[in-house]
Order: sequence, then C-alpha cells, then structure tokens
Amino acid sequence: MPTTLIFATNNTNKVKEIKSVVGENLIVLSLADAGINIDIPEPFDTLEANATEKSTVIHQLTKKNCFSEDTGLEVAALNGAPGVKSARYAGEGRDFQSNIDLLLLNLQHEHHRAAQFRTVISLIWEQQEYLFEGICTGKISHEPKGTKGFGYDPVFIPDGAIISFAEMTMDEKNQFSHRKKAMNKLIDFLMQKLS
Ligand code: IMP
Repeated sequence: MPTTLIFATNNTNKVKEIKSVVGENLIVLSLADAGINIDIPEPFDTLEANATEKSTVIHQLTKKNCFSEDTGLEVAALNGAPGVKSARYAGEGRDFQSNIDLLLLNLQHEHHRAAQFRTVISLIWEQQEYLFEGICTGKISHEPKGTKGFGYDPVFIPDGAIISFAEMTMDEKNQFSHRKKAMNKLIDFLMQKLS
C-alpha cells in the first residue's frame, strides 16, 4: 500500500518537481489535492523555522502526516542573501523577473559569483518532526538564459554543468537539485520506517 503525505505548499512548480522524484511507494498530495485553501505565512529568519511553521500549521489542521519545504538562494558575495528572503527579494510581489533583475544588479561588479540553493524539508511523521537538508552549489551567471523551471533558475548554473537550471529538462535539473537531494533523504527515512 503506498503511503500518502500532504505537501504543505501552494507552489505548483515545487509540487511538480517533487512528484517527479517520488516513486510508487509514496503518494504526494498538494494542498489543493487535499482540498486545503490556506496561505501559510513564512515569518521567520531561517529556512528551518519557516519549514517547521508550514508543516506544523498543516499538521494541526489535518492531523495527518505531512511535510513542507523552504528553499533559499544563498549568494556568497552578498553574505548569504537573498537566503530566506528569496521569494520577496525585490518586494512583496514575489515576482521572479524582478528578483532576478535585482540580484544581477547587486552582483554587477562582482567577479566572485558562487552561490548555493539550500532546501530544508520539515516532515511531521507520527507526531514527531524530522528535518532534511539538500544543497546544490553553483554560480550566478551574468545574464538569464533558458525558459524552463522557475524562480532564479535562469541565472543559476550548478557546479558540474555549463547551462542554467532553466535550460535543463526536469530530469536534468534533478541530477543536481537541492530539492531532490533533500527529498531523497526524506524518502530513505520513510523507506526505513515502513520496512
Ligand atoms: P520558498 O521556499 O517558496 O520560500 O521559495 C523561495 C524562492 O526561492 C522562490 O520564490 C524562488 O524564487 C526561489 N526558489 C526556490 N527553489 C528554487 C529552484 O529550484 N530554482 C529557482 N528558484 C528557486
């Protein structure tokens, strides 16, 4: 019998990515799939605290096993910014293009362009919380390239690649992806619990 988990997000891109990495033993329901219409706040200063908040809110509401994830783009030359503020870097509009424009502006005279995506997953499993982390290191390009993916994908080139995330298919992105690495840890954990 496959296990069902609610994924506490309204981000359809993330739901698509995560559904593309889970096997047949796990059924992931988005909030929309579970019939939940709620905008979960992300008020805290760390990815960990925001992920915990999101999974806790949904667990309290549904009493079901669930997980959430929070991801930030951490740029070394900007002391880790935009980090936990990645979605709202250029303002409350959460506009991907404005965020990219501001990032490139802030890095325009910078040669050191190392960056990483960091994902934190908070799983609530049988009333207990577990955290899993996934990191993808790379660099910020000088100009956006590609139309696939979302967020900062057009300006992020992972280490080991010569094209941006937005130029990759989902399978190619999954070979590097921070979210996939964190998700693999969650899947390994569940496989142990269920075996
Ligand atoms: P949050 O986890 O929904 O708060 O995401 C923060 C922001 O980081 C998103 O709005 C995107 O701009 C960005 N982001 C998260 N994951 C990715 C990714 O895989 N590629 C590109 N940008 C991402």
